[in-house]
Amino acid sequence: MNPLEIKTYGSKVLRVKAKTMVDFGGDLDTFLDRMKSIMIAEQGVGLAAPQVGVSKRIILFYVDPKESSRVDAMINPEIIASSDEFEKSEEGCLSVPYIRGEVRRLLEVEVKYQSVDGTEHTDRFHDLTARIIQHEIDHTNGILFVDHLSFAKRAMIRGKLRKLARENGKKG
Ligand code: CO
Repeated sequence: MNPLEIKTYGSKVLRVKAKTMVDFGGDLDTFLDRMKSIMIAEQGVGLAAPQVGVSKRIILFYVDPKESSRVDAMINPEIIASSDEFEKSEEGCLSVPYIRGEVRRLLEVEVKYQSVDGTEHTDRFHDLTARIIQHEIDHTNGILFVDHLSFAKRAMIRGKLRKLARENGKKG
């Protein structure tokens, strides 16, 4: 089986709203294993299906990456409540190589999602885990972390982003 390939800035799939998963059977388990393999190989702390060219609402993330190596998956995740506190911290993204920047995120979120077997859950997450989940849910909505950067920072990275997009244009 070919390893999955990470789509980078300029790829159209990163900019569309991904489809809600309805059918949980078939090769979902295999797909999640393949996502996990590439996420670990590329040293990411989270990954969303659009990043590997699959426009579906599926995300994968390390639960508390500073404390554990547990990786969890969410299908059709949606933030349904949050604290009113925010925190700014640096982020990067496998789909936006060479660029990092400070992003303001909710400190705590309540997320409704389905697990791999289709069961519905609601859980609360905070700090780094909440940040990763917000970043990955953004991917399922066609949003990238660079969209959240300050105006000044975006002006600074404009050239790099154009270059990435041009390289993807050549790939077709
Ligand atoms: Co990302």
